[in-house]
Amino acid sequence: MFSGALIAMLSKVLLAGVVVLTLSLYWVLVPPRHPRNIPAVPFWVTLLPLFFDVDQENTYRRYIRKPLQQYGVIKIFFGGQWNLVIQRPTYVAEMFKHEEVYQKSGNQKKIPHSVLAEFLGDNIISSRGDDWKLYRNIIKPGLQKTFETQPIVANARKLCSLLKKSQQALGSQGILIQNHIQCYTTANISKCVLQAEIESLSTENDTLMKLQLAVKREIFKPIFMNFPLLDRFGSFIPSRAHARELVRRFSSELESRLVRDHTEMPDSEASDNVGSRLIAARDRGELTQQQFRDNLNVTFVAGQENPQLLLISTMYLLGKYPEVQCRLRSEIEGCGADEPSHLILRDMPYLTSVTYESLRLFPPISQLINRRVAKPVVLGGEIYIPQNTYVGYNCYATNRDPTVWGKTADEFRPERWGSTTKEISMRYRVARARAEFTSFHGGSRACLGETFALLEMKLSLFILLKNLSWRLDPKWEDRKTPVRNLPRPLF
Ligand code: HEM
Repeated sequence: MFSGALIAMLSKVLLAGVVVLTLSLYWVLVPPRHPRNIPAVPFWVTLLPLFFDVDQENTYRRYIRKPLQQYGVIKIFFGGQWNLVIQRPTYVAEMFKHEEVYQKSGNQKKIPHSVLAEFLGDNIISSRGDDWKLYRNIIKPGLQKTFETQPIVANARKLCSLLKKSQQALGSQGILIQNHIQCYTTANISKCVLQAEIESLSTENDTLMKLQLAVKREIFKPIFMNFPLLDRFGSFIPSRAHARELVRRFSSELESRLVRDHTEMPDSEASDNVGSRLIAARDRGELTQQQFRDNLNVTFVAGQENPQLLLISTMYLLGKYPEVQCRLRSEIEGCGADEPSHLILRDMPYLTSVTYESLRLFPPISQLINRRVAKPVVLGGEIYIPQNTYVGYNCYATNRDPTVWGKTADEFRPERWGSTTKEISMRYRVARARAEFTSFHGGSRACLGETFALLEMKLSLFILLKNLSWRLDPKWEDRKTPVRNLPRPLF
């Protein structure tokens, strides 16, 4: 038998539990009131990938595109909270311009306990103020120099051999290119930017490559992206403890490879690459060990992953549109050179248009929410945003805005950029300045690796098209998210 006092105490505990649960559900399920008259994507849309095999593009078309294009801004649940996502170019331009109001606030601030925050920490992309200036002074000169073309060309030739070998092994079956491209862009970023030898194209069993794949698999799991709070209880979830362990092993492997390759390097070579500049800044005491690691990791990840995604998308588009592949090959053959140089690339308009068009349709960073509003602000003179609201931008939607790109906004049409080098670069500059094309962000926080990424892309296409031709495997299901072993939604 329970005593009256015990029953009373249990009832109070139960009541407190119900109140906490109700408040948590309210916090999660109900979108914030402000800004008023701005639609919210239903909360459950974010949960679809947890239970169903959904293609990201279908989710976007079905639930996100229309309100985003109509209002230019929507409320969306992500990372354990409600955020605002901006699409309209004039609003995006305003956000890029007023960095002091729309302040960078990366995962290290937003979800400091998460595995993702442990992986990339406080770095040049997510920081602001004096820390950002310090990181930028160290990294920028290593990214904005004139890069040699030869190492990328040599790696691109190795990639062609790898692809040919896979094709021969599989006969008439289609081959999956993702892992080969990952090895390729890893080799490029390590050699050209960090000046470290990571032999990802020569051996299948490179430890760093294996750790990199394992880390990516863990950190992008939808359940933890949506509910990073779960990472607080990591010690009770064995797979999260394992994810942290992988992150630590990856960081120390990358650091030890870099330091090993820089020990013997002559000073003349050492001063102008990001790897040595980071090591020197740490040795001088300008960077703590933690800041060194965070910035090394982010340079490696941003410099590897984004070009990888861009090259995969472009190969996909050229496989889907053989007439574009054919026209591009003619331009490459027509220039009469076996080896591309800066000079030759400068006058290849179709190669430039194909690169821009692919970046427009499939920006590697399609949506990013890493800013917080420092004070109440009225966006575009009409949308009131309260202080501390998390704000991001949807580059995928902006780059396909029909009011800017016309009725064919969703189509792959490289010729929309123009026909001469001058015309194309003018169109590109204008679209970037007006935030109509935001693949590399804009304003003072624009991508510092753009020049390297565009060079890498053009050199890669030049060599690939000279040596190979390809098409989509007719048996492959044409969708953007890889097929998973989950039921398909019925709606
Ligand atoms: C196709 C390739 C690439 C794309 C589409 C891309 C895109 C972007 C975007 C959208 C941002 C801004 C992120 C934000 O809003 O917070 C950014 C920043 C940055 N990117 Fe890239 N990136 C690419 C390649 C690279 C490469 C190869 C590097 C070289 C390591 C690099 C280094 C950086 C750095 C250092 C920043 C931070 C700039 C700052 O805040 O001062 N990126 N990139």
